[in-house]
Amino acid sequence: MTRREGWCRAAMAAMRRAAMAICLATLAWGGPAAARDDAPDEARDDVRHEQCSPNGRLCFVLTTVDEVATYWVTRDGRAVIAPSTLGFMLRGAGKWAHDMRLGEAARRAHSATWEQPWGERRLVAEDYREISVPIREQVRTRRELVMVARVFDAGVGFRFEFPAQEQLAEVMIDEELTEFVIAGEAGSASEAWWIPGGEWNRYEYLYRHTPAGEVGTAHTPITFRRKDDGLHIAIHEAALADYSAFWLQRIEGQRFRTRLAPSSAPWKVRGTAPFATPWRAILIAEDAPALYAASDLILNLNEPNRLGDVSWVRPHKYVGIWWAMHLDLWSWSDGPKHGATTAHALRYIDFAAEHGFGSVLVEGWNKGWWSESGRNFRFAEAYPDFDMDRVAAHAAARGVEIMGHHETAGNAGLYERQLDAALDYYRRHGVHAVKTGYVADAGMVLREDADGTEQWEWHDGQFMARHHVLVAREAAERRIAINAHEPIKDTGLRRTYPNLVTREGARGTEYNAWGEPPNPPDHEPTLLFTRMLSGPLDLTPGIVSLVGRNGRPIPNTLARQLADYVVIYSPLQMAADLPENYARHPDALAFIEQVPVDWEQTRVLAGEIGDYAVVARQRRGGQDWWIGGVTDERRREVRIDLSLLPAGVRYTAEIWRDGPGGGIDGDRFAMVRERYTVTSGDVLAITMEAGGGFGIALTPRPR
Ligand code: NOJ
Ligand code: CA
Repeated sequence: MTRREGWCRAAMAAMRRAAMAICLATLAWGGPAAARDDAPDEARDDVRHEQCSPNGRLCFVLTTVDEVATYWVTRDGRAVIAPSTLGFMLRGAGKWAHDMRLGEAARRAHSATWEQPWGERRLVAEDYREISVPIREQVRTRRELVMVARVFDAGVGFRFEFPAQEQLAEVMIDEELTEFVIAGEAGSASEAWWIPGGEWNRYEYLYRHTPAGEVGTAHTPITFRRKDDGLHIAIHEAALADYSAFWLQRIEGQRFRTRLAPSSAPWKVRGTAPFATPWRAILIAEDAPALYAASDLILNLNEPNRLGDVSWVRPHKYVGIWWAMHLDLWSWSDGPKHGATTAHALRYIDFAAEHGFGSVLVEGWNKGWWSESGRNFRFAEAYPDFDMDRVAAHAAARGVEIMGHHETAGNAGLYERQLDAALDYYRRHGVHAVKTGYVADAGMVLREDADGTEQWEWHDGQFMARHHVLVAREAAERRIAINAHEPIKDTGLRRTYPNLVTREGARGTEYNAWGEPPNPPDHEPTLLFTRMLSGPLDLTPGIVSLVGRNGRPIPNTLARQLADYVVIYSPLQMAADLPENYARHPDALAFIEQVPVDWEQTRVLAGEIGDYAVVARQRRGGQDWWIGGVTDERRREVRIDLSLLPAGVRYTAEIWRDGPGGGIDGDRFAMVRERYTVTSGDVLAITMEAGGGFGIALTPRPR
């Protein structure tokens, strides 16, 4: 028997009928990469552990193949993840992807419901079956790690734990070798939606839609859709707090492997055992709406709240001294065009107070704009034309807060050195939310060693993973929430640190001011099923003027700008346009004023990745439902079944939709605002024009 045939026999025994197709495909693509030249002793590969999900449909299997730890995932007996190998490159110890033997499995079932302090839904169901399997090296150093897998009905999470052991006290990881082989060849190959990892612009790319076999190196979440049965699969990670983010690198065909973001040290990750990797997560769903629902798995793989009472974290809508800078009407730095003047801030506070917005973001008030690598930023010193005491006092008098801003230009080291003073300053001024920023090319995050030597890091390496946790903790002590721009990707840490409220990490509305190209209409229908699987996004919608810098048209309709408030979840949601532009669009402003930002429950009613989406969310603690719809460059009619409403209750449906002759090739401002009385038996038919959308408020009528 050749070694490849031996591998197939082992896998077939394990996977029964489903394995045949994979083995044949494997022979075609060359077999597992880790196979060794000497023939395997099959007896050493005879341990196989299987764990299925609570409903039994999803199963995770761990075995060894040629003494290399190998896992796969099936759904209804069909492979979703084909046999995929595991391993590490350890500094000073070389490659650990051989001589592996599995120990006894420990199993555990967990079923609970927990309450989010804020979120897309109040109650989150957490049901999984867990299996822990020691993986021991047979020769040389006899190191041990434990693979822990949690199998949910909607996916799998697994991680590696390095127990305390003499031969591996200090864990220095040069690379993680976790593979994900997306099952399916020929007729069942997958499409993928992804952005590149390791490129200069962090996460701010338009999504690419390619065959899975044409992905390069991608950030996660990356979403796949299988051709023959439409199965949706997304790969991401959870609880990335003290490790490097992984990029998903395609090796060949549909075989992918983790590639950790680099660090300034020779190794990528360093930890002291006991030590665990973040969870590697695979979301699996029948269709796009179910994939979005499956993303609760990311939260479930995170630790519960460590901050205790977080009632001071207050979801709200905000305005800001912001868009005028992106339009180049005002500047962040001081001078004749300075945006953050006392006078401007007082005016924005009045506007916020009059329209019920909770805070005013002020960017560019502190000294140091814009210095190379942020070396001159002073986080607690105002420019002379900005009087923080006066601004804060006026805000307090009008019942509005200031949203603070800490742009670092990637100089996270300088920020850490000033962090206490910077956050104390805001606390003194009644600030409860701070937007941070790390504008620098990927790989250009600056920190200093103890001896003052400058080191360059990646936005998603271990240093920055730790940095974001440090900022969250320090901010929490001052009752401040964080909205990070140019962040590390979201991996659900908001469960553990509920003051990590929202972040960027995507191509936001700023690109509609100056980006080449502006965000196309398919951007949000793509984001919902990719980036949004990871958590909230500070997209900063609401540009009712529909033009960017120099009057360049934004390829959206007015109603579409409103729809984004419902479709793209963020507990801090900006009304990003200039006050004078809102004055020209009172109907749109009325929607933005009323739409909630915190939800009791969420349902994606319909959608296809990159095409369209219809999302319904019920106000937290309320009876009103809000529905948002977005479409790409195609005009579509959607039918909304109102059976989500309680039977026998009459509701007012207030609709903001694209008007006749609207759409990006017509009159983008054409919008109809209308009202009907509806019940749970009704179906609403709504047309979205090209690049358009709609928003609906469903409010119970007084009896
Ligand atoms: C980039 C952020 O995304 C944007 O919102 C901010 O205004 C600028 N950096 C300046 O900090
Ligand atoms: Ca940005």
